[in-house]
Amino acid sequence: MEFTERLQSFQGPMPRLEIEKMNAYKAPLEGRRHLLRLDFNENTIGPSSLVIEAIRNLQPDHISIYPEYNGLREALVANLKTAKLSTNVTAEQIGLFNGVDAAINAIFHAYGDSGDQLITTTPTFGYYEPCAHMQGMLILAFPYEGESFQFPLEKIQTALLKQQPKILIICNPNNPTGTRLEANKILKLASTAPNTLIVIDELYEAFTGDSVLPKVNFTQTPNLVVLRSLSKTAGLAGLRIGFAIGNSHVVDRISRVTGPYDVNSIAVTASLAALTDQAYIDFYVEEVLKARDWIKHKLIKSGRRYHIDGGNYLLIWPKHEVSKIELSLRAAGILVRNMKSKPLIEGSLRVSIGTTSQMAQFWAAFSEIDGIEA
Ligand SMILES: Cc1ncc(COP(=O)(O)O)c(C=O)c1O
Repeated sequence: MEFTERLQSFQGPMPRLEIEKMNAYKAPLEGRRHLLRLDFNENTIGPSSLVIEAIRNLQPDHISIYPEYNGLREALVANLKTAKLSTNVTAEQIGLFNGVDAAINAIFHAYGDSGDQLITTTPTFGYYEPCAHMQGMLILAFPYEGESFQFPLEKIQTALLKQQPKILIICNPNNPTGTRLEANKILKLASTAPNTLIVIDELYEAFTGDSVLPKVNFTQTPNLVVLRSLSKTAGLAGLRIGFAIGNSHVVDRISRVTGPYDVNSIAVTASLAALTDQAYIDFYVEEVLKARDWIKHKLIKSGRRYHIDGGNYLLIWPKHEVSKIELSLRAAGILVRNMKSKPLIEGSLRVSIGTTSQMAQFWAAFSEIDGIEA
């Protein structure tokens, strides 16, 4: 239904105009449990046994009382040290959110005013755009460059100076192109634009290693915020926990727009266990990197166009009609994500990288369906 028709047909109180203009953010997330899920870049083998054990040991009062967050920020501080990511982040520099999705929403809510500008890239993670629209922000999205989807650094540098946007958001490595941007370049962008909040979404950083955390001091660079989550590596996607790390003043402002108990008790318990088991995260990342090498080799020999860079995912352009291949893979019990209507990469499938045996299962089915000879 057209927007004006919708307005005319509606009876009852009107929401804000920005909301009325939007559609709900929908991801095809139902009925996936018994299939090989290579569609949302989740951990494909589940969380550490310590997480499962901690949840099994929960007592009834853990459920009947409101969540307590004591020790969770400190556990992340300790984990960042163990993972050799940061020795200077403090507990006050960490915000807790119901997934990084909620952190993104909160950032836009706290900083994005109607008419303010967001600068980002395209194609990128799909939730930034609705969050900007919700606030009535204007979006300037720079395309990745060339066949290998290079980061549009010069254009963004110039735009930062010229437009002075309220928010610049960079997904690093980018979902879905895998494009990576070095920490030094991010810090330079941040110093170019002290009045812009520079948000670095590092959801997939653990797989490829370009975190800005080892180099940043949030007291000296108060306009930088880093987003990290336990969804993709630690296998907690269903529990919803995410972190915004930045200057304590900024973290405080972002946290003001959330509810007092948005992160639930089970997520807290699971996170505490996951953060003490960095060895499990390292093990899983190692498995994914082995599988990445395995599938890269197959892709090189296949003659199909493909793109593989940062993160735990790759793009492949099938020879046959992409929607048909997607459906045939589903019929074979394998879910992948069709990149239809994504600029620059239309016609491709995004395939999450799991373990080597899972990639072998995908490759056997894909080769048969798309006619690749062994
Ligand atoms: C780039 C990016 N950022 C954020 C999210 C949301 O992560 P979370 O599960 O922590 O809400 C995703 C999920 O797919 C993502 O790909």
